[in-house]
Amino acid sequence: MSVQARDLAVEFAYRFGRAPTVSRAPGRVNLIGEHTDYNGGFVMPAALEFATLTAASQRSDRRLQVYSMIMDETREFDLDSPPPGPTGDWSDYIVGVALMLESSGRNLSGADLIVWSDVPIGAGLSSSAALEVSCAHALLTESGLPFDPIEIAQICQRAENDFVGMRCGVMDQYIACCGVAGHALLIDCRSLASRHVAIAPNLRLLIANSGVRHQHAGGEYNLRREACEEGVRLLSRYLGPIQALRDVTPQQLESKRRKLPELIYRRCRHIVTENARVLEAERALETGDFVACGRAMNASHLSMRDDFEITCPEVDMLAGLAQNVKGVYGSRMTGGGFGGCTISLIEEWAIDKTSQMLTDGYRIAMGRDVDIYVCAPSDGAQLIPV
Ligand code: GLA
Repeated sequence: MSVQARDLAVEFAYRFGRAPTVSRAPGRVNLIGEHTDYNGGFVMPAALEFATLTAASQRSDRRLQVYSMIMDETREFDLDSPPPGPTGDWSDYIVGVALMLESSGRNLSGADLIVWSDVPIGAGLSSSAALEVSCAHALLTESGLPFDPIEIAQICQRAENDFVGMRCGVMDQYIACCGVAGHALLIDCRSLASRHVAIAPNLRLLIANSGVRHQHAGGEYNLRREACEEGVRLLSRYLGPIQALRDVTPQQLESKRRKLPELIYRRCRHIVTENARVLEAERALETGDFVACGRAMNASHLSMRDDFEITCPEVDMLAGLAQNVKGVYGSRMTGGGFGGCTISLIEEWAIDKTSQMLTDGYRIAMGRDVDIYVCAPSDGAQLIPV
């Protein structure tokens, strides 16, 4: 990591002629709790070792000049006459963050920035949140302003909701800001409180990237969110003043099943049962009952496949292959869906066998290659030494 930061600092000195600070924000994998965040519910993500680094140094004017090492492109903006809306460019995330920081009352200095990332893009591992949060951290640092993790997570979410146009919940930005090495976080997305959930030393999180790229903004993701809102609207006729599907128990939903269109009922069933599964998974991890945790993960995958309909044949195949390997407790798609990755909770001794089974099985069944990452949960946003 420090080598990457040093490389970035060298590139920065070459381009801008001075030494930068380097901010790091991680991608994430979600152990369980999918699409529950914008329903006021529970999620359990962990921060990854994959991260976005932003090298930055203050300018005397109010301009932002950003070079992406990944894209080999530079963009420039003036904080006093910012672009009116998104252009579909990678820089939308950075402009959105800068504008939302300013509209929260923070007065930013101009800055020169270089961004670099090894978070796989479009794989459901939150490359966008990592970019948003690392830039927010860099801009605040260069403006001499404090980084309040939970508030900054909400501001970065707002950048994505109101500027980029993706109605995501707060999970990705939250874990990018608040992640804790060696732990997942159980986040209550209504109160924004969280608890640390230790990942036992004998366990590993194995991520399998299907290579199917998802595209969220404006598409199926927002439609799922609308279906949940419709569910709340219909259910509140019978259940009283509920704010979100978080307020509905599986029993209550069953009792009103006939009042709901079939599709809305299934969308709601995913959310209310998923919330219960997150809490069950947390209990299971805390008590060392890894089998029960794995069972909740497998059930989560089925619920995403059949009720929420956000999986695809490739991730179904990867989850199914992993679930049959000895030493794998559970496996499910992770992230927003429509492609991306699976996460499997496995014993350390099962890494080689699982990787081999996934590689061979996926090639035979789907005719393509899977990328496998075995990861240890890392820390959230921070300055790193150069
Ligand atoms: C994306 C969104 C998150 C969350 C997940 C699904 O990653 O950014 O807010 O809704 O999908 O759990």
